[in-house]
Amino acid sequence: MTIAAWPASERAWERTKASLAGGVSTGLRASMKPHPLFFRGGSGPRLTDLDGNTYLDYVLGWGPVILGHGHPGLTAAVSRQLPLGATYGSGHLLEAEVAEKVLARIPGTERVLWSNTGSEAAQVALRLARGVTGRRRFIKFRGHYHGWTDPMLIGYRPDAHGNLGLGSQGQNPNALTDVTLVDFGDLDTVTELLKSPDADIAAVFCEPVLCNSGVIEPPPGFLAGLREVCTATGTVLVFDEVITGFRIDSGGAVTRYGVTPDLITLAKAIAGGYPLAAVAGRADIIDRTTRGIVHAGTYNGNPVVLAAAGATLDALGEPGVYEDFERRGRALADGMRAILARHGVTGTVSQVGPVVQLLIGVERVAGFDDFLAADQAFYDRLIVQMLRRGLFTLPGGRWYISTAHTDADIAETITIIDESLAATLAEGPA
Ligand SMILES: Cc1ncc(COP(=O)(O)O)c(C=O)c1O
Repeated sequence: MTIAAWPASERAWERTKASLAGGVSTGLRASMKPHPLFFRGGSGPRLTDLDGNTYLDYVLGWGPVILGHGHPGLTAAVSRQLPLGATYGSGHLLEAEVAEKVLARIPGTERVLWSNTGSEAAQVALRLARGVTGRRRFIKFRGHYHGWTDPMLIGYRPDAHGNLGLGSQGQNPNALTDVTLVDFGDLDTVTELLKSPDADIAAVFCEPVLCNSGVIEPPPGFLAGLREVCTATGTVLVFDEVITGFRIDSGGAVTRYGVTPDLITLAKAIAGGYPLAAVAGRADIIDRTTRGIVHAGTYNGNPVVLAAAGATLDALGEPGVYEDFERRGRALADGMRAILARHGVTGTVSQVGPVVQLLIGVERVAGFDDFLAADQAFYDRLIVQMLRRGLFTLPGGRWYISTAHTDADIAETITIIDESLAATLAEGPA
């Protein structure tokens, strides 16, 4: 049975548009095809919308819901904390208990700083880098995303004229003068920039796996090369592990690729869906927040989100979690590849642990330009066909798998993708 229309969601959207800009809480959600959906709740890997349709969820709240919806251990931990209060504006032991779990998972990290969102974590990481080096500028890679703030929302997506610069109207244009954009993998250019005497570069920021633009793994030796040149030039190396942290391995990219940066930004998976972020890394850098580098935030380290994080990290620490992620990620990716071949559709599938990327119309995805070349118009049509058949997926082709997705869910999903692709092709070719 396919879903023909979503009348309750349409009515809800009409209502929310009267009180919220675009009827949504973050701009990207308004772009959802065919229109934003509204949900009444979720359980495990499934979400149920206001019309009563149930979907296998591969959006997972854009990443955080790594244990699935309503995970019993996570729910119990948060429920135990709720009657004790939401925030104290002072210390409590969960702050350290959960920080100790983070430090134990990520080799080479010595301190944790709690924050609320990935964007804030990137902002404070940049400030720390500037504070400890006394330098102003930073290197960022094309297509990498480090949040929506003025300094960071640069070089993420080309504008209507194909230029890669500021990401938003109203953004301070001076932010452009602080950044040099480089291609992910181009170690020679990074080295040349960092070694030039007047570069004034405080930090190199990267998504160690370029999840936001194609789920592209770092070329062999690239992260180690960044580590080496940053050490040699006294530049702060920052891995933005907001997506990869606790997801692609127990210690994120650090344990998967064996390279420890100076600072790591964390969010999303760390608290299973609750709003928590962190910077983890060198004590001598993070401790500067006690000596002149300001980091503030009313909700930093509040006990509700830390209860959630403690339970999430415990659940992710269960034996077999990352083996299951890898197996299910691979099964989904292999299933997609077989479907593309069967239907004669050109496309590529990338997969790192439980993160999978399907791109139509490109034969290989080695870099940001390949990602941009993909046939997103066709993919938008495929998304709607999948939604009609009970798969809730992200625009752009990235898929997240949670611990709640079973092998049977993945097998069902592959069958649905197959039917959906056939239906999309029947409407018109890629
Ligand atoms: C790699 C990366 N860094 C930073 C952010 C910003 O995090 P937040 O949305 O919590 O501000 C995101 C969000 O998607 C992200 O994917």
